[in-house]
Amino acid sequence: MVARKTFAAVLVACVSFATSQSGYGDSNGTSSSSSSLANAPYRDPSVPIEDRINDLISRMTIREKASQLMQGDISNWLNTTSGAFNFTGLSLNFEQKAGMFYVGYPISWDWLADGIKRGQDYAVNSTRLGIPAIVQTEGIHGFLIENATIFNSPIAYACTWNRTQTRLMAEQIAREAQALGVSQLFAPLADLARELRYGRVEETFGEDGYLAGETAAAYIRGLQSLNVSAMVKHYAAFGLPEQGLNTGPEHMGERELRTTWLPSYHKAIADAGVWSIMSAYHSLDGIPAVSDEFTLTEILREELEYDFFVTSDAGGTDRLADNFYICPKPLNTYNNPITEGNECITLSTLPSGGDVEMGGGSFNYRAIPELVASGRLDEAIVDKAVSRVLRTKFTMGLFERPYQIAPKRKWNRIINNDYARSLAREIDRDSIVLLKNEQAALPIPKGRKVAVIGPMADGFMNYGDYVVYRSQYRGVTPLTGIQSAIGNGSVTYAQGCERWSSDESGFPEAVSAAEAADVAIVVIGTWSRDQQELWPGLNATTGEHVDVDDLSLVGAMRPLIQAVLNTTTPTVIVFQSGKPITEPWISNTTASLVQQFYPSEQGGNALADILFGDVNPSGKLSVSFPHYVGDLPVYYDYLNSGRPVDLGAIGPNGQLYFGHQYVLGTPEPWFPFGYGLSYTTFEYSNVSLSAQNVSASATLAATVSVTNSGTRAGAEVVQMYVKDMLASVDVPNMQLKGFEKVMVDAGETVEVSIPLNVSDCGVWQGRQGSMRYVVEPGEFVVYVGASSADLRGNASFYVS
Ligand SMILES: *[C@@H]1O[C@H](CO)[C@@H](O)[C@H](O)[C@H]1NC(C)=O
Ligand SMILES: *[C@@H]1O[C@H](CO)[C@@H](O)[C@H](O)[C@H]1NC(C)=O
Ligand SMILES: *[C@@H]1O[C@H](CO)[C@@H](O)[C@H](O)[C@H]1NC(C)=O
Ligand SMILES: *[C@@H]1O[C@H](CO)[C@@H](O)[C@H](O)[C@H]1NC(C)=O
Ligand SMILES: *[C@@H]1O[C@H](CO)[C@@H](O)[C@H](O)[C@H]1NC(C)=O
Ligand SMILES: *[C@@H]1O[C@H](CO)[C@@H](O)[C@H](O)[C@H]1NC(C)=O
Ligand SMILES: *[C@@H]1O[C@H](CO)[C@@H](O)[C@H](O)[C@H]1NC(C)=O
Ligand SMILES: *[C@@H]1O[C@H](CO)[C@@H](O)[C@H](O)[C@H]1NC(C)=O
Ligand SMILES: *[C@@H]1O[C@H](CO)[C@@H](O)[C@H](O)[C@H]1NC(C)=O
Ligand SMILES: *[C@@H]1O[C@H](CO)[C@@H](O)[C@H](O)[C@H]1NC(C)=O
Ligand SMILES: *[C@@H]1O[C@H](CO)[C@@H](O)[C@H](O)[C@H]1NC(C)=O
Ligand SMILES: *[C@@H]1O[C@H](CO)[C@@H](O)[C@H](O)[C@H]1NC(C)=O
Repeated sequence: MVARKTFAAVLVACVSFATSQSGYGDSNGTSSSSSSLANAPYRDPSVPIEDRINDLISRMTIREKASQLMQGDISNWLNTTSGAFNFTGLSLNFEQKAGMFYVGYPISWDWLADGIKRGQDYAVNSTRLGIPAIVQTEGIHGFLIENATIFNSPIAYACTWNRTQTRLMAEQIAREAQALGVSQLFAPLADLARELRYGRVEETFGEDGYLAGETAAAYIRGLQSLNVSAMVKHYAAFGLPEQGLNTGPEHMGERELRTTWLPSYHKAIADAGVWSIMSAYHSLDGIPAVSDEFTLTEILREELEYDFFVTSDAGGTDRLADNFYICPKPLNTYNNPITEGNECITLSTLPSGGDVEMGGGSFNYRAIPELVASGRLDEAIVDKAVSRVLRTKFTMGLFERPYQIAPKRKWNRIINNDYARSLAREIDRDSIVLLKNEQAALPIPKGRKVAVIGPMADGFMNYGDYVVYRSQYRGVTPLTGIQSAIGNGSVTYAQGCERWSSDESGFPEAVSAAEAADVAIVVIGTWSRDQQELWPGLNATTGEHVDVDDLSLVGAMRPLIQAVLNTTTPTVIVFQSGKPITEPWISNTTASLVQQFYPSEQGGNALADILFGDVNPSGKLSVSFPHYVGDLPVYYDYLNSGRPVDLGAIGPNGQLYFGHQYVLGTPEPWFPFGYGLSYTTFEYSNVSLSAQNVSASATLAATVSVTNSGTRAGAEVVQMYVKDMLASVDVPNMQLKGFEKVMVDAGETVEVSIPLNVSDCGVWQGRQGSMRYVVEPGEFVVYVGASSADLRGNASFYVS
């Protein structure tokens, strides 16, 4: 979604349409009396879904069909400022856009639940066929409404590598959404973070398709187990825009698309069975994703056998005219004549497999009845799109339970209850990644005096984008979390600088605080904004439409760290961010370094749990950190021919050591994918496979013994990478194909077994347009280790 600002214009344009068009049940459709409809097969839950769909479609007028294919909006009948109800707006909304409606506004629970009930009551009781609407909002790290639980950001919880936690989180998000009447969430993202300049890195599950796919599937299973529909986005491969600029064009070939970018969608769609998909804003090799028949029909319907609907993103269809110049301008919306541009967009998008048009644009699908009447659009195409929308609704049980709004007295017991907050804290602390701790400054013994320093330490909650208006004022900041862990008397605080400023006048106070303490904790990083502050353009360094050409700290933040390090006080640096930060000089200091990607509302408590050792860190990076923006891309799964290394460096005193890859740098990451330290140590031994000579359809198990050789219990993420030793094309040097996270007591050895489907080890052979997926015969090496750059053992299998 982008800003909903265009809705104001849509509302105005709707004004006189109400009187010029008839509603349902008047002019047409009265031939089916409401009593005969009451017993129609589509209303009967014992009738098979396909029969219900066919029955219902056979009763629909073309206008009723078209209205199922456009997204309405609660603001059409609920004034989101005053709470006033507008019946004219309600009836007009359902005459025009009856399929689903959006409710992502910063309003009270009462207004939301009441507005949803009025909308759904109207859909069910006052439209001719009584088709319930899907109720939609955002949910990538929590249900988007004031005081609902804010979990940490996707890039963060992907670092837990714990599918169970993600699933439990999604179940809680679903319960909270359902309590107020929401039935579909625009989440998860299956896009990958492979272009780190791009602002939306924080919304992804990192750089790798396997980890992203497993995390997305767990999220989908959690939501949908409660019949709240997930909507995976942004189909497909939205995450590699030119220059890292939001919505920019992409240039990959079909082999890269299939090898690298589609597996996460495959898991979401074919394995987890997601009930809806949002298409993307970009073009791929010149073809806009919103109308790409290859991805939307050939791959999605024919290969993945996906039967539910695809919607455009907000305003996404209008881009065919406004951005791509594929359809002519102008575009008109309601109350103005349909233009050639409106028709062109409808004829480009709908037959390609873009079933539903989201709001935020011109509602080009208004043109459907006329295009069908004039023979330019086959009604069978419309029926197919409508059947996909209805299939989602029937599968969710929406006809039987149009809304499941909980009684008001129960809201506080469901939304943001103790369980939700403790789950948010647990996931958050298991997401924190310990990057560096040579001097063992961590964990900090609890009796010590601590100076908490930095602009991200207090004063606001550093959430990522997609949180509701004014969320920054609710939640546990690092300072508060540390205070409650060790007592206020042991903690001093100095902001040091504003995050958006180069002003160093606060440094002396910060340096004095550090000097007076036993340990200094400096919290700095990137920041984003909530949904109401982001789009008006308040300063931020990450988030949707906030792209960078440098991944280093901005303003006075780096000098602030240097000033604190200049004291003799042991120092812990905490990056709180939505993407990797490049300050590699920190490696040459004595400081410890902790990564907390954008936190949950329990962020400060989670951080304190790790800093003071109540919990042993177990997070592993979902994304590689480069040394420098010029090294991009740095993902671990570069093709075999990639990444020759002949590094150079600039020495501590400015000496120049010349290399070639790169002359004064290195193409290798600062911290690699899968990396993360613990307060204990793990030894790996005895890697073995359940079979050596296998068929292309076999399932293997890789087994490894993991010993906790330190003095405290800890969780380890055991990672399994596979290398295809000889392939017919240039393939990734290795790829993650499995992982298990295990708790191991001090001194204990556990045997970990990770399943591997040999069919997941294929390559895409052939040329663009005629590619085949083949598991090629020969040797494959299975590496087991603690990160993509710390492989501790291996074993081979051979495909015959
Ligand atoms: C109603 O039905 C008539 C005749 O079947 C058709 O011409 C007209 O377009 C329909 N109107 C609507 C609003 O669907
Ligand atoms: C909503 O209510 C506010 C405050 O009463 C008013 O200023 C605004 O014009 C209303 N908006 C619409 C679309 O009617
Ligand atoms: C109610 O909705 C109708 C139709 O969109 C619109 O014309 C009218 O201005 C709205 N009234 C108010 C008070 O917002
Ligand atoms: C959120 O919680 C605060 C503090 O309890 C309260 O003042 C506010 O009204 C709540 N907002 C909603 C929408 O429930
Ligand atoms: C719609 O129908 C449901 C039950 O079928 C009823 O509970 C609800 O009050 C009705 N709403 C309106 C606005 O008539
Ligand atoms: C979800 O909906 C289906 C179809 O109506 C129903 O069979 C199932 O029991 C529902 N599950 C839950 C948890 O409500
Ligand atoms: C500790 O300080 C915080 C303000 O940062 C305050 O809200 C809290 O009440 C204090 N706790 C105690 C026990 O004094
Ligand atoms: C950044 O935004 C804040 C409001 O959140 C404002 O107070 C501050 O002046 C802005 N700083 C700059 C440099 O734009
Ligand atoms: C470090 O401390 C020295 C001596 O106290 C001072 O001269 C220097 O400016 C300081 N450097 C920084 C980066 O604060
Ligand atoms: C950092 O330390 C390494 C060796 O530990 C050295 O090779 C490198 O030049 C140092 N870099 C800087 C910027 O001091
Ligand atoms: C590894 O295998 C050898 C031989 O079977 C066995 O002696 C040893 O105990 C095993 N190591 C671990 C850590 O399980
Ligand atoms: C994964 O998450 C589940 C659910 O919170 C938890 O019970 C389990 O201990 C976690 N696994 C590990 C190894 O941390």
